[in-house]
Amino acid sequence: MSLPASDLTKQADHLTTMDLGAVLPATAEVREGHLFIGGVDMVELAREQGTALYVFDEADIRGRLATYRENFQSRYANSEIIYASKAFINKEMVRIVAAEGASLDVSGGGELAIALAAGFPAERVYVHGNNKTPQELEEAISAGVGRIVLDSRLELARVSEIAQRLGVVQDVYMRITPGVEADTHEYIKTGCEDSKFGFTMREDFAFNCVGDVLAAPGVNLVGLHCHIGSQIFALHSFAEAVEIMVEFIARIKERYGLEITELDIGGGVGIAYTVQDQPATIEQFAEVATEALLGSCEVHGVNPPKLLTEPGRSIVATAGVTLYTVGILKTLPGIRKYVAIDGGMSDNIRTALYHAAYEAVIANKADQPRTEIVTLAGKHCESGDAVVLDGSIQTPELGDIVCVFDTGAYCRSMSSNYNGQPRPAVVFVKDGTARVVTRRETYNDLMTCDI
Ligand SMILES: Cc1ncc(COP(=O)(O)O)c(C=O)c1O
Repeated sequence: MSLPASDLTKQADHLTTMDLGAVLPATAEVREGHLFIGGVDMVELAREQGTALYVFDEADIRGRLATYRENFQSRYANSEIIYASKAFINKEMVRIVAAEGASLDVSGGGELAIALAAGFPAERVYVHGNNKTPQELEEAISAGVGRIVLDSRLELARVSEIAQRLGVVQDVYMRITPGVEADTHEYIKTGCEDSKFGFTMREDFAFNCVGDVLAAPGVNLVGLHCHIGSQIFALHSFAEAVEIMVEFIARIKERYGLEITELDIGGGVGIAYTVQDQPATIEQFAEVATEALLGSCEVHGVNPPKLLTEPGRSIVATAGVTLYTVGILKTLPGIRKYVAIDGGMSDNIRTALYHAAYEAVIANKADQPRTEIVTLAGKHCESGDAVVLDGSIQTPELGDIVCVFDTGAYCRSMSSNYNGQPRPAVVFVKDGTARVVTRRETYNDLMTCDI
């Protein structure tokens, strides 16, 4: 797919780096024209480590995990934060999640393997996926994971069979699609009725399936799960989902006599990818979710269950940036100005996939105003390969270090080796120190699985 036509009327915004506000990682600052994150000079780091390079502000990640924990627990003590590892996972991230007292959501055997290898306690792992393979289910159950989130009746049968064979009783949730139309991109909407995920509420299908789960040996239904989508700004969508789920819990109690004691409401709030974005805060999200829970439990006369939420994007997106080097400049008068960088859709597929918007600066000109509108094009063999479409940036020159903000979520985890591109290293920065926590792939890595 090619790029959407450039908007030639768009004017550069003349902002400098620190004007980007909520788009920036917590410790971003500009010193003598260079962008610093975690007290580390991004220009020097790029020269030392090479580009493309993923950099994460560790203090930002820890701060957001703490903000979620404190805002939910201060409003409703019986609550828990589960980091959605699909947003970004490596062993160090798992260790940080463990240290910050959060639990972990994994989708698939690979994420579980990383979690266990990093020493994450299995009983704090929640296993998701609309088509977990029998092998993945067996690995999860044998590892002793805390909860398996059942996605279908077929999966119920598989979990029941495996649990019985292994001689255990597995705690499970049922994933329900509450039919809430969240205000976000089609590709990341999941709670609406036409969804591959979960048990639909239509024609009481999910409700009738509760009976099947209760009758199945080897499984213990302790909770319900729903996830209405990602990058959601409208908090009322979360409230609506909570209310629907609580009503469902009340009906389960009435019909089956079962008290559902855990309600997992899925992913967290959206984040500011651009200066125009005005997402809700974690605090506002916690307020709306806990109020909706307690209010609707009162209306329906049920004991409030434990409230769990699974943020991914809002934990790591803003903490992460990607550094690139400018390699080619190409101006097509009346069409577009291309700035080609040494990465692209292999390290960040979101722009090619759904024209995601990002802010970028030139890290070695971080104190200068962004005076040009350019397309940051990737280096891959696809016309649609770009990271920023029509974005403001400082005057670009060959060799400049570009920093694209808010790439911490769903970039490294969705990355590929397209065109034989080795994946970038991941560096965590904090208090003036940079630590490589995932090394850069080598050409040999590209061939390690070949026979
Ligand atoms: C089941 C589930 N939980 C949690 C998340 C994380 O959502 P977010 O990154 O928006 O917080 C997702 C992402 O789509 C998901 O599918």
